[in-house]
Amino acid sequence: MLDAEVRELMQPFVLSDYQVQEVYSRFCLEVARGLKRSTHPQANVKCFPTYVQDLPTGDEMGKYLALDLGGTNFRVLLVSLKGHHDATVDSQIYAVPKDLMVGSGVQLFDHIAGCLAKFVEKHDMKTAYLPLGFTFSFPCVQLGLKEGILVRWTKGFDCAGVEGEDVGRMLHEAIQRRGDADIAVVAILNDTTGTLMSCAHRNADCRVGVIVGTGCNACYVEDVENVDLLRADFKKSKRSVIVNAEWGAFGEGGQLDFVRTEYDREVDEKSINRAEQLFEKMTAGMYLGNLVRLVLLRALERKLIFKQSSRRPEFAGVLQRNEEVFETRYISEIEDDSFPEFASTRKIVKNLFGLEKASVEDCQTLRYICECVAKRAATLVAIGVSGLVNRTSNRRVIVGMDGSVYRYHPKFDAYMRQTLQKLVKADKEWDIMLSEDGSGRGAALVAAVASKSK
Ligand code: BGC
Repeated sequence: MLDAEVRELMQPFVLSDYQVQEVYSRFCLEVARGLKRSTHPQANVKCFPTYVQDLPTGDEMGKYLALDLGGTNFRVLLVSLKGHHDATVDSQIYAVPKDLMVGSGVQLFDHIAGCLAKFVEKHDMKTAYLPLGFTFSFPCVQLGLKEGILVRWTKGFDCAGVEGEDVGRMLHEAIQRRGDADIAVVAILNDTTGTLMSCAHRNADCRVGVIVGTGCNACYVEDVENVDLLRADFKKSKRSVIVNAEWGAFGEGGQLDFVRTEYDREVDEKSINRAEQLFEKMTAGMYLGNLVRLVLLRALERKLIFKQSSRRPEFAGVLQRNEEVFETRYISEIEDDSFPEFASTRKIVKNLFGLEKASVEDCQTLRYICECVAKRAATLVAIGVSGLVNRTSNRRVIVGMDGSVYRYHPKFDAYMRQTLQKLVKADKEWDIMLSEDGSGRGAALVAAVASKSK
């Protein structure tokens, strides 16, 4: 049985129906404000047009390179599109050392170009002409398909000299500086766009793409006449365009203050991007573990967990010393654990604190804390998804999803569905589909569709 005091501790994370409705209305308003030229500068859900106007048909063919920067790893991929909705992907993961994440932009792009050159060499393609799609998963103002001006860094990146610059040009210049391969950057895209495209490749009804990974964001297909910021010449021949919502920034105008907790405020205050990406800080993998860590500290202080142990101050020390000590993946592992064995939970507790056999009660308390933090994240994500699904003009809407939190958390999908059922309009038919490597396949598809429509 859970202690009433533990329930009370977690109450601020439990969103009431009223709060869900209110966040939903505020979110929809911000989307509308982001799309309108007159309100766009003040809006915090920016809704940037991506210039991707054609969804794949499934018959795309050819070899494409893709780069994926913006999660925990950096990847180079070779995607072979084979028609008949089919593709194969060959990829290589490279680490992005912490000092590169906060070093100079030129260094970062030189590192990327270096990895790219190694990859091309390994695949014996040095002499081939290769079109490249660059999945760059940060907020960008797109001026066209291959020009993306970085608005701000997120997710712990902070490289000097890139904000306000065209990342397509920076990549192109880094490739030219090396001069050892014939690679053309033909498209810059967000990972949410890649997710939508890769799901649309399989299912023609996909209209929304969502990432809940290190960061959190979504994109969707909008009618061109609602997208004030799209250049007029792009409105003539096409009816719709993918809009990158950049919903991670939602709440920066105070819209979420009525649901943010003291723990959310602390996560924000200690982050390198204070007062920014507030919705992301309640939903994304980069922050969820830290939220649990802060709640655990409070639970220790109030003697709500590890009550029997005299080592509580020592446990608190472990949690205080390192913000990243409670990894987000533990949340998934703990919620996946079986009762009453709690084998994974006990292993995590042992690794963290050196505590041999946590009691069933302690495991239950820890699980409840994780559940409340994850469920709130899923509910908030689903509020955003509902807002976008309800905006699309299609009756049947598939939501393409990806990201480590969504993929590995055993109940994230179910939690999301509960909220979607409440908020999506009754005349819509919807479902969620897991994306297959949106950042790679999606990048190749954007590049392919772009060359097809030329
Ligand atoms: C970025 C988005 C991205 C998301 C998921 C956020 O921090 O602003 O552009 O889509 O992370 O990777």
